[in-house]
Amino acid sequence: MMPRILEPEVMDEEEQCLAYAQADFEEENQGFVDRFREYFPDLTAGHVLDLGCGPGDIPIRFVRALSGCRVTGVDASPAMIRLAEEAVRKAGCVDRITLRCERLQSLALSEPADAAISNSLLHHLPNPLQFWYGLKKLVKPGSYVLVMDLLRPESPEEAQAIVDCYAADEPAILRRDFYNSLLAAFTEDEVAAQLAELNLSRLLIDVVDDRHWVVGGRIY
Ligand SMILES: C[S@@+](CC[C@H](N)C(=O)[O-])C[C@H]1O[C@@H](n2cnc3c(N)ncnc32)[C@H](O)[C@@H]1O
Repeated sequence: MMPRILEPEVMDEEEQCLAYAQADFEEENQGFVDRFREYFPDLTAGHVLDLGCGPGDIPIRFVRALSGCRVTGVDASPAMIRLAEEAVRKAGCVDRITLRCERLQSLALSEPADAAISNSLLHHLPNPLQFWYGLKKLVKPGSYVLVMDLLRPESPEEAQAIVDCYAADEPAILRRDFYNSLLAAFTEDEVAAQLAELNLSRLLIDVVDDRHWVVGGRIY
């Protein structure tokens, strides 16, 4: 197994943020929201935190699917937050989605959230334990949590094959970021070890396709 190769933590290039916002992540993002509903059908209202919300597509899909919920989306990239603000305004969701440009490591909420979601953030962090520690601190005990991210392939060649298979027609900058993200991602065993280290073993990890893992459950 190849070692992890870090990529920059925050996506702060304008051009990469725009390429990310314009890419078609409908299947992945809607699938993520649908999975939340399927795993946690009794959560129909409350305050949901989205860590690393990027250009806001998941928060928008989330509030559309769960009419009793409001979402706080947090991202450390000013360019991403600007794109998210625009998307939220266009979607007519400003009253239900709050956006904050902050690093999750220093985030404080006036009240802990009722649930937390995060897609494709963990692999950006040099120290993944900061993510799980922050998550634990930011939600109420017993909150539902759904986290999804990429799986690190066995080799650079395998990473390139995944990029060629799923992003063949995307702009070069998106293909570059996808490749670098695969190299920076964690394996299933590494994520399980992170959960064990922070006493989060009630959260279960599942490998859901050839390039994603999902962690879900209640956090105490
Ligand atoms: C690959 S994007 C995923 C965006 C979004 N969750 C989605 O699925 O469309 C990861 C995002 O995490 C943000 N990020 C990275 N490190 C962060 C940190 N420490 N705190 C908050 N956001 C961070 C990046 O700026 C980037 O916008």
